[in-house]
Amino acid sequence: MVAASLPERRRRRSSKRFRLVLAASLVGGPAAGVACGPLEPSVAASRDAEADPAEAGAAPVVEAAADAPAGPRLRERLSQTGLYTDTAQKVLAVDALAFRPAFPLWSDGAAKERWVRLPPNTTIDTTDPDHWILPVGAQLFKEFSLDGKRLETRLVERVAATGKLEADYWLGAFLWRDDESDADFVEAGASNVRATSHDVPSAEACWSCHIGEPGHALGFTALQLSHELGGLNLATLRAKGLVPSALVDRGVPGDPTARGAVGYLHANCGHCHNENGASWPDTDMVLRVAYGESSVTSARLFTSTVGVATKSFRSSGFSVRIEPGDPDASAVAHRLGTRTDGGAMPPIATKLVDPDGVQRVREWIAELPPRDAGAD
Ligand code: HEC
Ligand code: HEC
Repeated sequence: MVAASLPERRRRRSSKRFRLVLAASLVGGPAAGVACGPLEPSVAASRDAEADPAEAGAAPVVEAAADAPAGPRLRERLSQTGLYTDTAQKVLAVDALAFRPAFPLWSDGAAKERWVRLPPNTTIDTTDPDHWILPVGAQLFKEFSLDGKRLETRLVERVAATGKLEADYWLGAFLWRDDESDADFVEAGASNVRATSHDVPSAEACWSCHIGEPGHALGFTALQLSHELGGLNLATLRAKGLVPSALVDRGVPGDPTARGAVGYLHANCGHCHNENGASWPDTDMVLRVAYGESSVTSARLFTSTVGVATKSFRSSGFSVRIEPGDPDASAVAHRLGTRTDGGAMPPIATKLVDPDGVQRVREWIAELPPRDAGAD
């Protein structure tokens, strides 16, 4: 059966590529205790498609940069990355610009701060407004805190422009020391850090989610920066000449209820549930909103879910992704609201249900006109 053998073929081919990716992009020895678990085949297949332009069809082609940094840079400690000019005293580099996405990813209640650093005299490639490519040398940081303690700081850095995914980006997390004097790169991740229930993902696990966007920036996008919530936003980027002035604000569409739910699904699910994402070999469901999608009902997030049968998830009696008017019969609402094995969505990087997210999505589904409305 052709439909079943294609993913299989990709999986076989990609597991080889997967190891290559690791060897090229990680510092130190082979990753131990990788946290991808059951996701790994899909992730590998997706990454393979990404790295193979013929198969992906849309992989960005970039030219080798003359100004690529000479020689490998050390990223063993956060203090080597340039985010802080004084790490112990938490003095940020002057070029570290704070930003926030309109819709954040739920991280079990941890507080998060984010910064971008762009090399001087560079701009962001927004040729495809929906998939930004940052210049070589650009860094994105996200720092997690809980109970007043710094836990970890994550880095996505564009390190080269070879056109090969495995060589062009560095992703990893730095675990803060108890005295908060510095943070150390933890390739294999860490569990229950600093006496909290927070887990730091392995460097490999970052890719499970960040693979879903060709330039690997998930919250630093035209859609997510179309807001007036403070910090760097799309308007500031235009004013600084970092993106073209024609790149106007276009946020998540819909009335407040729809917008709250659709934006939530975009931020929390869309990175895996799109054609570049880790879930794609298993299900063709889209939970990502594209920049410029101006109505909820014509958005792919709607047309690929509302009244559409589940493809991979058929257990527990769920046969429909979103049953309009009936959150209890909707697989999307169910999986978002559970953390039991096999059902939990997202399947990684969270141990606690987000009550606010569940409420938003259930309210929106409850307000959708039922399928049989007016039928008789
Ligand atoms: C469960 C999926 C998931 C995993 C695993 C994950 N991320 Fe992310 N990350 C996201 C999403 C979604 C955003 C954007 C929303 C937000 O910041 O709240 C994001 C944002 C970021 C940002 C801010 C820049 C941006 O993309 O908007 C950085 C830096 C980052 N992640 C680094 C990492 C690194 C490094 C790892 C691994 C150690 C990692 N992430 C693991 C989903 C994930
Ligand atoms: C880290 C990647 C990842 C993230 C993030 C993620 N998913 Fe998934 N999702 C998958 C994979 C892989 C599958 C296919 C295997 C399965 O069903 O468990 C899937 C399947 C599903 C299915 C079944 C679809 C079908 O047609 O059978 C639903 C429903 C779903 N996810 C909902 C969500 C929701 C809601 C979110 C956000 C709250 C989310 N997912 C976030 C990876 C992800």
